[in-house]
Amino acid sequence: MLVQQSSTLKEEILRLKKEKDVVILAHNYQIPDVQDISDFTGDSLGLSRKAATVPQKTILFCGVNFMAETAAIICPEKRVLIPDLEAGCSLSDSITVDELRNWKKQHPDAIAVGYVNTTAEIKAELDYCCTSSNAVNVVKSIPEDKDILFLPDMFLGSYVAKMTGRKNIHIWAGECHVHAGITPEDVTEKLNSMDDTEFVIHPECSCTTPFMYDAANGSFDDHKVSILSTEGMLNHVKESTAKNFVVATETGILYKMKKDNPGKTFIPASEKAECQYMKMITLEKVYDALVNEKNVVTVPKKIADKARLAIDRMLAIS
Ligand code: 13P
Ligand code: SF4
Repeated sequence: MLVQQSSTLKEEILRLKKEKDVVILAHNYQIPDVQDISDFTGDSLGLSRKAATVPQKTILFCGVNFMAETAAIICPEKRVLIPDLEAGCSLSDSITVDELRNWKKQHPDAIAVGYVNTTAEIKAELDYCCTSSNAVNVVKSIPEDKDILFLPDMFLGSYVAKMTGRKNIHIWAGECHVHAGITPEDVTEKLNSMDDTEFVIHPECSCTTPFMYDAANGSFDDHKVSILSTEGMLNHVKESTAKNFVVATETGILYKMKKDNPGKTFIPASEKAECQYMKMITLEKVYDALVNEKNVVTVPKKIADKARLAIDRMLAIS
């Protein structure tokens, strides 16, 4: 898009959201233009909390569908719009309600813990919901003797099992195609390309597994390793004294990292790590949703009421 067109559209969006008293929430993977016009950016947990506390009655959620659905479940009295209803998530598609019900039947006494990257129907079947930033603490809050069904992300699941030391976690074999595509080879190559480098990894990455033992010990060769949610990464790189960072997650996060830390260098573990669903949200679609107040995200009350119990437990644990 031409710079002139984009800045006019941005101004128009800023004017409209004020006039209509709409708050715009954007996930950290959104394109720079969309992050620029948002009121708040954040990770899944932070945005869910924000949705619950903002005074506006309409939320325009720039992210993928399950995130907007979560906001709609938390705030039944508010109206949640999404710029593109087709913005899905390969991870949330990796388990169906029937599959989960069958799994629960095989482990009738287990506690079902599901990542926030799941559909509302799946959340309605869960005991606890969690995000990448509180998954370890959610699992720690469950009595030791209880079996846990952890879904749908196998890399986050094995990270949680390692960090909690629990042996009674059954892990669903789902994955996010973006994070699973970042290989340990990608990471090693990038780490070796710079000195004085820290390495930050999202726990959905398949490369998490070989590095998590080093992360637990606080080191990987000469490089420091931290496994964090997207917002955790943004906070960490700000506070760190290191100058160079290799970042293993969706590349959209680099925009804010660079903006917040002009003196530091950030390189993606893989330039190919782009989520096409997150990138479906464009300024034009934001504008369209705002002008026409369209793409309302609704969750049937019966499902929302059940899902809210698991989400409230997630929100109560930091
Ligand atoms: P965060 O909750 O860490 O932002 O992650 C959400 C997500 O979709 C990662 O792919
Ligand atoms: Fe889903 Fe992966 Fe995209 Fe995150 S990056 S929204 S987990 S497909």
